[in-house]
Amino acid sequence: MAAAISIQGLTKKYVGLQRDEVVAVNNLNLDVQEGEIFGFLGRNGAGKTTTIKMLLGLVFPTAGDATLLGKPMGDSSVKQELAYLPEETYFYDSMSGWDILDFYGRLFKIPEPERSRRVKICLEKVRLQPEAWKRNIRGYSKGMRQRVGIAQALINDPKLLFLDEPTSGLDPIAHSELREIVASLKDEGKTVFLSSHQLADVELICSRVAIIHRGKLLTTGTIKDLTAGGRIEIVAEGTQLVNGTLAKLQAIIPDTHEEANHIVRLITEDNNRISAAIDAIRAASGNIISIVPIKKSLEDVFVETVRKEEGL
Ligand SMILES: Nc1ncnc2c1ncn2[C@@H]1O[C@H](COP(=O)(O)OP(=O)(O)OP(=O)(O)O)[C@@H](O)[C@H]1O
Ligand SMILES: [Mg+2]
Repeated sequence: MAAAISIQGLTKKYVGLQRDEVVAVNNLNLDVQEGEIFGFLGRNGAGKTTTIKMLLGLVFPTAGDATLLGKPMGDSSVKQELAYLPEETYFYDSMSGWDILDFYGRLFKIPEPERSRRVKICLEKVRLQPEAWKRNIRGYSKGMRQRVGIAQALINDPKLLFLDEPTSGLDPIAHSELREIVASLKDEGKTVFLSSHQLADVELICSRVAIIHRGKLLTTGTIKDLTAGGRIEIVAEGTQLVNGTLAKLQAIIPDTHEEANHIVRLITEDNNRISAAIDAIRAASGNIISIVPIKKSLEDVFVETVRKEEGL
């Protein structure tokens, strides 16, 4: 599969008023494949927005390069194929949702009647209630504005979308609807570069992620590989398990606990201890209820990765 984004050594240094230097993005190398929803993760200030802005030509890089859809970043012919939903969307309050989309359609030089057709398709796609289409956005809720923001990003039927925090600050229904809308872009063959703190969303809709910290790439990979559990949980039940056997089990697997109704739960990262534990359970006439690998959540992976880097 071709790379939709290929980043080589991208670096941005900001120089402050006291000539102090902030390295916002530090020698970033990353590839995003065509047709994937790629999660770009990092703490506040990690360098996500700066990276997106460099790729879009809104911030000038200190060093490094990138290609978007096979063309050098900043190439004007590629701009027609890109879309951007900024972290904060600023729209003129005196315009309606329809007017805003029409305005962006004009920027992309989409002629009528195609422009009106696209505006309608995009507003329908983000499920903005039709009665609000021609109302001033001054009266829109945060969720409605965010829908207009995503509709705006879709107006030119882009191939590659940069979405910076599309699902923050929304109520649970709007949140899950917008997540589904982002997920559906993949079915249309679009590539999405998604910066988000909503790790549960990312886990649901992204195929691969990258975690950056203080501008540096810490890890990248498929969600499946990153969350693959190193731990196994054994649950067993039996009246004789608890007394002398519990200490025996704890000697084999220290993380062994007694629960109600003669149930014991054992958790280990060491596969070599599993058969010894099973033998001990059987010797005490216990029944094995389940032996399952425990998957990590993306949040576990994120916290572990960032804490390790911070030396915590
Ligand atoms: N225009 C600027 N001038 C000086 N420093 C900046 C500028 N823009 C960003 N920075 C600094 O660069 C670093 C990265 O900021 P950036 O906005 O890219 O982070 P982010 O990962 O998008 O964070 P968040 O999750 O809070 O949106 C921060 O330390 C920030 O203070
Ligand atoms: Mg940001």
